[in-house]
Amino acid sequence: MTAKRKILVTSALPYANGAIHLGHMVEHIQTDIWVRFQKMRGHTCHYVCADDTHGTPIMLAAEKQGLTPEALIERVRGEHLADFAGFHIGYDNYYSTHSPENKAFATQIYLALRDNGKIVSRTIEQLYDPEKQMFLPDRFVKGECPKCGAHDQYGDNCEVCGATYAPTELKNPFSVVSGAKPVLKTSEHYFFRLGECADFLKKWTAGSTRLADGRVQSHLQAESLNKMNEWIEGGLQDWDISRDAPYFGFEIPDAPGKYFYVWLDAPIGYMASFKHLCDRIGLDFDEYFKPDSKAELVHFIGKDILYFHALFWPAMLQYAGLRTPTGVFAHGFLTVDGQKMSKSRGTFITAKSYLDCGLNPEWMRYYIAAKLNARIEDIDLSLEDFIARVNSDLVGKYINIASRAAGFVAKRFGGRLAPALGEHALLDSLQAAAEPIAQAFEAREYARALRDIMALADQVNGYVDANKPWELAKQEGSDARLHEVCTVLINAFRLLSIYLKPVLPRLAEGVEAFLQIAPLAWEDAGQLLLDHQIQPYQHLMTRVEQAQVDALIVANKQTIEAAKPAAAQYEPLAPTIGIEDFAKLDLRVGKVLDCQFVEGSTKLLQFTVDLGFERRNIFSGIRKTYSDPAKLIGRSVVVVANLAPRKMRFGVSEGMIVCAGLDEEHDFHLLDVDAGAEPGWRLS
Ligand code: MSP
Ligand code: ZN
Repeated sequence: MTAKRKILVTSALPYANGAIHLGHMVEHIQTDIWVRFQKMRGHTCHYVCADDTHGTPIMLAAEKQGLTPEALIERVRGEHLADFAGFHIGYDNYYSTHSPENKAFATQIYLALRDNGKIVSRTIEQLYDPEKQMFLPDRFVKGECPKCGAHDQYGDNCEVCGATYAPTELKNPFSVVSGAKPVLKTSEHYFFRLGECADFLKKWTAGSTRLADGRVQSHLQAESLNKMNEWIEGGLQDWDISRDAPYFGFEIPDAPGKYFYVWLDAPIGYMASFKHLCDRIGLDFDEYFKPDSKAELVHFIGKDILYFHALFWPAMLQYAGLRTPTGVFAHGFLTVDGQKMSKSRGTFITAKSYLDCGLNPEWMRYYIAAKLNARIEDIDLSLEDFIARVNSDLVGKYINIASRAAGFVAKRFGGRLAPALGEHALLDSLQAAAEPIAQAFEAREYARALRDIMALADQVNGYVDANKPWELAKQEGSDARLHEVCTVLINAFRLLSIYLKPVLPRLAEGVEAFLQIAPLAWEDAGQLLLDHQIQPYQHLMTRVEQAQVDALIVANKQTIEAAKPAAAQYEPLAPTIGIEDFAKLDLRVGKVLDCQFVEGSTKLLQFTVDLGFERRNIFSGIRKTYSDPAKLIGRSVVVVANLAPRKMRFGVSEGMIVCAGLDEEHDFHLLDVDAGAEPGWRLS
């Protein structure tokens, strides 16, 4: 056995204003498997998480629901805890960033950074909602894209032409909160001088740590390191860490009315959750966070929040005089049947709906694990493959081993395993696999681990077919042989159960009860179970039925009707115009001569439109609604014919096709033209 390690492990803190979905679950399953594996190896490992409770979206969500933010986050925390428990995620502590510990640490770190000269204040101009009397984050301002004029674009980038810009550049901006026209207002903000941390970050991101067992752990995966290098080379901007009231968060100690930006206190929430655990069970917190700590600090995160964990967070820790992380392990995103999760298709699958539909959480743990490796690749949940793989591998290859042997042990041998085994080859090879499989789990190569385990299960099933216990049972004088074969099979099942235990912890408990043994640890693979009394077999896991998966999709489908927003969410009416303003707009009937996808764009369709007197090339961002462009050929549309041509990334667009849409969450739809109106005719 290798040297003992002390490891503190985290998963990213889910926001406290949304339900846990299977995408979150990928991360927590990935982390939980690693933690359970480390514990089975005999290492000291603590797994903490928390809800991420601060910020404008949570403040506004609470208001909308008529709750205080405290009441909202309390309720959501209960929901999150139930979801994670349902999937057997075994945190040692699940806390909240809205906690006294977190406030104390955020304050301590901020003051240390300030005393280290790493905080600077600067006056900035920002959009302000005069009605709601609050500064507006970029995502709470909408308007027309300054580059292409597309309506209803967020304050940071245009989803039609891909341009990025400052919210102050939007045309006809409006506040998403009140609909009011935002005004520019100055305010003093506090910045963390990230620019000054570039030398440290260059070293840290490329660096590694020697672990207690002598291995060397790189701080980042190769893909992350490349990305961070690009960012560092591109020049690191100072980071705005303050927000003005009203804000749900912690007030900055020396700056009344100013609050820490949610992303400042969120990662500090890892420390707070751990401190809470330390106080509860009597651990030495400082041993884990002092600058020369020998303990490991490991963060599991999604690829979208690398910037925060691989740059801001290590820099904050370093310049606050604390230890830095040992590893930041990023994973890709979950897609369902090859697509981003979608509410209308029913593939935005919440953890709760999965459990409510009666699906076994360990099916999903197994499936996700079978797809995970140590790289930052998106992983796809193919529902058909899910059913096939769980049924053929988990139930067909593994569970059935126990059911095929246990009956004979109970009926013919009083539930007792043979006292000794003559031949051993199969079990030898299963036992020899313990270390390679352990290495795969350690390296987060779960797919490889499960492939190896299932290959062993294949060998065991080959042994069953070669030795045919059901025939031995009928032959005179084969009792001893039958006893031996069944004992080999039960032992093979026990060894496979050890290797699968990080993935299937609840099933492993069932196996431990069936075999009447203490909780299985990794080193138990070194021994066999002989001359031992076991329980009669009771079914440990059922097969997935297609009907259960169908029910899951139905449960998650939000009909268009249900998704319809309240009137208050309609875009506010534009200012009144005179007929002469309308006359400036030259709208014409056009006929679609051709319509195609645009290579390299997921949003655009390229149209050739006949205006009677001429043909136009027009790009339109409606691919989401019209996934089969060929079907649009031949239909009539309305075209803004006197719009100045504009150059886009994919070519020049000569006009605009009129569409109706509520906002960009919803699809945009073309308008109909009655028969009789010919191409080129003007709308009036
Ligand atoms: N609150 C921040 C994290 C703060 S950590 C100090 C946050 N919350 S989140 O709820 O949006 O996301 C939590 C985690 O779930 C992130 O690591 C994110 O990458 C992950 N995922 C969210 N959607 C996902 C998928 N579809 N697939 C896989 N992981 C996904 O970010
Ligand atoms: Zn645009």
